[in-house]
Amino acid sequence: MITIRDLMTDKQLFGDQFNADSWQAWRTLLAGFEGLPLDNDELALWETLTGRTQAPDAPADELWLVVGRRGGKSQQAAVLAVREACFRDHAAKLSPGEVATVLVISADRKQARTVFRYVSGLFHSNPMLERLIVREDKESIELSNRTVIEIGTASFRSTRGYTLAAVICDEVAFWRSDESANPDAEIINALRPALATLNGKLIALSSPYAKRGELWNAYRRYFGQQSQILVAKAPSKLMNPTLPDKVIEQAKERDLAAAMAEYEAEFRNDIQSFIDVNLLNQLTRSEPATLPPDRRHRYKAFVDPSGGGADGFALCIGHREQSGRIVIDLVTERIRTNPAQVVEEYAGILYQYNGLKMVTGDRYAGEWVANEFKRNGINYQYSEMNRSELYLEMLQMLNAGRVELPPDDRLIHQFQNLERRTSRSGRDTIDHPPGLHDDRANAAAGLAVTLAAKPPLMPAPRWE
Ligand SMILES: Nc1ncnc2c1ncn2[C@@H]1O[C@H](COP(=O)(O)OP(=O)(O)O)[C@@H](O)[C@H]1O
Ligand SMILES: [Mg+2]
Repeated sequence: MITIRDLMTDKQLFGDQFNADSWQAWRTLLAGFEGLPLDNDELALWETLTGRTQAPDAPADELWLVVGRRGGKSQQAAVLAVREACFRDHAAKLSPGEVATVLVISADRKQARTVFRYVSGLFHSNPMLERLIVREDKESIELSNRTVIEIGTASFRSTRGYTLAAVICDEVAFWRSDESANPDAEIINALRPALATLNGKLIALSSPYAKRGELWNAYRRYFGQQSQILVAKAPSKLMNPTLPDKVIEQAKERDLAAAMAEYEAEFRNDIQSFIDVNLLNQLTRSEPATLPPDRRHRYKAFVDPSGGGADGFALCIGHREQSGRIVIDLVTERIRTNPAQVVEEYAGILYQYNGLKMVTGDRYAGEWVANEFKRNGINYQYSEMNRSELYLEMLQMLNAGRVELPPDDRLIHQFQNLERRTSRSGRDTIDHPPGLHDDRANAAAGLAVTLAAKPPLMPAPRWE
């Protein structure tokens, strides 16, 4: 049987590409993953990479790699895909008509294309492997041994019907979704059963991010442990000694906290979840999604406007009860809709809530928003606080149990995804992760703070 070591060293295979000294750390790590013997130099490396003091003696089931940027992860993900697809005999365990799939999942389309280019490049660099290809398109390669390599993104949901020979997760710490607060766990858990028949490997490679999610969990639980789950962690330079120091130095000058994660493979201490999931669940009413207008309440509204792109234009309406409790009656959002049309529609909704003629919103939204509301008979007030201040203020209200949230999945996910960043100046900022949105959460926070600030009847309680 051909091993990963053979694959990386044999000139008939990929020896020309990966037998150089610079690939020693990768060869060591992957050989250890397969339970192959290591020489003395390799054993020292093995201990550095995995925190394990015992030499490998059996293949592991899962491999979790925390490795810095440009450390060779995507390229080795491709090597592992080829290894699992071409050099294991799955056919014996397959039913007639069944195919084995090696699934490579990337954080986004761009990264998926990178991995696919590496995979395709490996096949076409080797005439023997090239001959195995039956069909190749933009995201899959079908082989004559009844195996398919398929590349997808983490928005990927349909896992039914697969028999998996391996799942390779690229940049798993950066899988993000507006629909879920933990897409990595959801996707991986959905795929695990499909790995069972063929005893397939689960392999995840990523640079680290915040101390949350599956990569962090695997690291925290299994790094340095004797287990079927192998975890390794290494700076970019250790895995890829050809990486110029200048790249790392410049990154550190730009943003030290980010560079320590990106190149030194340290999980970030400065980024935390903003809010606890359990707290959100406790404060969310079970139904209805929207509370109908009630003549007894004095409503207020808050909007998070957008220019009509992928970023939503959100509206929240709510009221304050005698007890001081704040209730969010309604949350809604329009995505990719002409903003003038949205304002007109929102003016109609506001009217239903006891003829509400005022909204509050962001100061930076641009004057067109205020003008557009004005044209529809609504007075647009500028919020005195910025986004971070609104969230911090709202957090105190949430902690005090003074807010009732509507059962809106997107709103809840947006709150769960929010990140709190401590800066050295001491002022925390709260924002959504790159690529995600927080328009509903922003409108809800703005509304809660607005409702708390000026009581319609009683003196303002202070939320310290
Ligand atoms: N150990 C190494 N020796 C030589 N070149 C390497 C090594 N590791 C990575 N590279 C090169 O660095 C570049 C980035 O690799 P890639 O796999 O895309 O990194 P990552 O996915 O970790 O950011 C590629 O051109 C790759 O060939
Ligand atoms: Mg990569």
